[in-house]
Amino acid sequence: MSPPVAPSAPRCLPYGPEAIAEAARAIATGQCVAIPTETVYGLAADATDPVAVAAIYAAKGRPSFNPLIVHLPDLAAAEALATFDDAARRLAKAFWPGPMTLVLPLREGSGVASLVTAGLSTVALRVPAHRAMQALLAATGKPLAAPSANASGGISPTRAAHVVASLAGRIPLVIDDGPTERGLESTILACTDGTVRLLRPGPISAEQVAAVTGVMPGRGGSGIEAPGQLASHYAPGKPVRLEALDAAPDEWLIGFGPVVGDDTLSASGDLTEAAARLFDCLHRADATRKPRIAVAPVPRSGLGVAINDRLTRAAA
Ligand code: TXA
Ligand code: MG
Repeated sequence: MSPPVAPSAPRCLPYGPEAIAEAARAIATGQCVAIPTETVYGLAADATDPVAVAAIYAAKGRPSFNPLIVHLPDLAAAEALATFDDAARRLAKAFWPGPMTLVLPLREGSGVASLVTAGLSTVALRVPAHRAMQALLAATGKPLAAPSANASGGISPTRAAHVVASLAGRIPLVIDDGPTERGLESTILACTDGTVRLLRPGPISAEQVAAVTGVMPGRGGSGIEAPGQLASHYAPGKPVRLEALDAAPDEWLIGFGPVVGDDTLSASGDLTEAAARLFDCLHRADATRKPRIAVAPVPRSGLGVAINDRLTRAAA
């Protein structure tokens, strides 16, 4: 028998049909669930539900919005969301399902929430080789966004107990299927410009990639600085003024709470809703005739830290 657990600990269910059914119900109601993949445990939510994706960031306490990896059951499902060039398709056929993520041009109308891609026109996709994640993908029928299931700044979890220790009180459910096989996050490759670039080293080596494509992948580039860190985020093409309580005549005001604008992050002042709407609001503001953008103050607590981080970059 397992020892008693603290009341704030998430439910931890052993992998099986009942656990997957419960996890699928949680996903369908916009919650996030910790589930193993062959690399590390992921914190999964419906990638097409912006509020559910915001809940991932809230649970992790991430101080900024890094784009997330979208998990899919197979290559056909991946091709519905992004465009594959020859090299990308060959890599997918060679290494999926498996510990490789491809960054690809996002298809118009993909339905992926803008918070998943941090507003970028590219998306990171992976077909995982793990029975639990595959079962959850089948049960939900949804693309699942999932970063590693640890609090921000923590190390990636390779056991259910690591997840519980890191995210107790922040998530409802962990599916336990033992330690992960690889223990290291997936290799990330970008296939967005006719070349193949290695954005994050991982279980699939550069040599293995070269054996499939015929060329060694280039390193980073195109705005990627350190592994896992994106230097260049989506930025509006117009000047952005922060902490605005009202709009000048030439400004498009993005409101929040009591500050009513031309648009609003959240009329009720809800930070989860604001995170979910952030990139869509910026894109909309960019598309208006007004030459400038103003944004109402957003509190710097909880998800507000990440929202303000993003707004500061947009205004820089
Ligand atoms: O093995 C893994 O990849 C695990 C499991 C759960 O699948 N996931 C994982 O996710 O490591 P995460 O969020 O810890 O790392 C995802 C990284 C981001 O930090 C970012 O650098 C990169 O993927 N990424 C995502 N979308 C991107 C994009 N559009 N362009 C460039 N990099 C992107
Ligand atoms: Mg991580």
